[in-house]
Amino acid sequence: MAHRVGAEIDRHGPWWYRMSLIRLENVSKTYRMGDVEVGALQGVSLDIDEGEIVSVMGPSGSGKSTLMNVVGCLDTPTSGRYELNGHEVSSMSDNLLSEIRGRQIGFVFQTYNLLKRLSARANVELPLVYGNGKGRRHRGLEALELVGLRDRSGHKPTELSGGQQQRVGIARALVKRPSILLADEPTGNLDSASSEEVMELMMALNRERGITVMIVTHEFDIAAATDRIISMLDGRVVGDSHREDWVQAGGLWSIGPGVNPGQPVKTELADM
Ligand SMILES: Nc1ncnc2c1ncn2[C@@H]1O[C@H](COP(=O)(O)OP(=O)(O)OP(=O)(O)O)[C@@H](O)[C@H]1O
Ligand SMILES: [Mg+2]
Repeated sequence: MAHRVGAEIDRHGPWWYRMSLIRLENVSKTYRMGDVEVGALQGVSLDIDEGEIVSVMGPSGSGKSTLMNVVGCLDTPTSGRYELNGHEVSSMSDNLLSEIRGRQIGFVFQTYNLLKRLSARANVELPLVYGNGKGRRHRGLEALELVGLRDRSGHKPTELSGGQQQRVGIARALVKRPSILLADEPTGNLDSASSEEVMELMMALNRERGITVMIVTHEFDIAAATDRIISMLDGRVVGDSHREDWVQAGGLWSIGPGVNPGQPVKTELADM
């Protein structure tokens, strides 16, 4: 399709020197529970380029979190191939995986996973196990600044709203300056205003910092704000549409009901 080829060149440069940041080839993940085998992923092939912002949708149990865990090097495929930045990671040792994870990937969780007794700043600094106090403090504040919460650095999680707690969670994910942000239902516990705030932040990080973002969500309006929606069912990718496909088709109705094509998000990182 002519319009897609044009869009590819615009966004990523010509195909002959483009390399996927994330490439899964026929990846399967099987969990064995006693005598029962669960095919959490069944032959998933997927390419995600540097700088993309994508959402993953699908019913409960369809394999979304398993996919995120594999992409985030928290788990290895049972079969198939996973290349991150051109390096085959499916067969790497646990040590190497955790090194790659630490360097390249930031995780954001539905329940924030903040430690209650620690301040926002101390929570954000947690991934920085090495380095001196001053350096850690600087990096922690820098990450909090990025999410617009530098002035809340001394607050404990209970002294912050849900949306603010999730922004602290995002700051913690960013503190090691990863190139990929993986968020598993990051707005699942938030009201609609806070959800929007968190989405705007992730989109600004993508747009202004070039961070590749992958978001699992059950909400169509969240997914519609991203550039690409991957749909899963029973461990398989059953849909993969880019914004230009929905626009071409006249709206997101082509992939799901009750959705408008994503609105442009205006928020700048510095305004938050
Ligand atoms: N550690 C595990 N051990 C055994 N089975 C697992 C494990 N993790 C996931 N599964 C199974 O794999 C399948 C996919 O699970 P997954 O958590 O990826 O689904 P999901 O799409 O994230 O669902 P939800 O929307 O409820 O979070 C499910 O059938 C689940 O029961
Ligand atoms: Mg899940």
